[in-house]
Amino acid sequence: MTDKDHYAVFGSPIEHSKSPRIHQFFAEQTQQSLEYRAVLVPAEQFEVAVKEFFAKGGRGLNCTVPLKELAWMYANKKTERAELSKAVNTLALQDDGSILGDNTDGIGLVTDLKKNNAVQLKDKRILILGAGGASRGIVGPIQDELPESITIANRTVEKARNLVAEFAHKGPIVASAYEDLAGLSFDLIINATSASLTDDLPPLAANILKDQGCCYDLAYANKPTIFVRWAREQGALKSLDGLGMLVEQAAEAFYLWRGVRPASAELIQLLEAERIS
Ligand code: ATR
Repeated sequence: MTDKDHYAVFGSPIEHSKSPRIHQFFAEQTQQSLEYRAVLVPAEQFEVAVKEFFAKGGRGLNCTVPLKELAWMYANKKTERAELSKAVNTLALQDDGSILGDNTDGIGLVTDLKKNNAVQLKDKRILILGAGGASRGIVGPIQDELPESITIANRTVEKARNLVAEFAHKGPIVASAYEDLAGLSFDLIINATSASLTDDLPPLAANILKDQGCCYDLAYANKPTIFVRWAREQGALKSLDGLGMLVEQAAEAFYLWRGVRPASAELIQLLEAERIS
């Protein structure tokens, strides 16, 4: 390895990851000397690959699909938000040689909503669609913003109930079937299902979004996702996708590793411009 500090993102698939570009941008902006690579690591090779990475002097890793639960199990210590979310997207070598696991996805979403888009969460009624790993990663940091309530809707209601049971001690949160949402309305609807990836839309009742309400799809693509298009049709004040969250979760990981907080606005603008053109 060179004298630069080494970082990487592990995942499968990984070839389209924007993380190397994001972290190189942050490194130049904050004048940090580091290298960041994307490495194809299937689940069965995870443990060996992580051990080798840190043994060779690596300083920090991002872990993405399908490795976040494995990274959670691997970490010697975890932040409280990582502990609760049962998933780790950031591993950081500590001075004592141990590996700290964090999950910066939820705080990335909250920062993108509040700081970049002026969408407040305090005292709001929030609906989260989906009860898988993506939902688990965002619930805790959303609760920290003291919303009036969180409703988790899922096709398999049992999964939503299980998730709710794990987070109920932190604030008001309930589980629901999609059909039981009829007649309810929300200030913010967050799509944490994987439905956008197959161009599917969770079955949402009419009038479910309040006047001046906002929508956020954790997924992102070069074109508006099906959920973003639906949100526009509902007249949402903001119809956002997960590009800003991607940059903000990276900024938080960068801060954990380097102790320097990068500015994200310019990079988000750049990435937005690329997909419009
Ligand atoms: P992830 O880690 O991305 O959250 P996951 O754990 O497989 O992936 O969870 C996917 C989530 O998307 C689940 O909540 C799933 O609902 P079920 O638990 O009922 O399967 C949800 N999901 C996937 N496709 C969907 C669709 N077409 N409509 C509604 N929900 C969908």
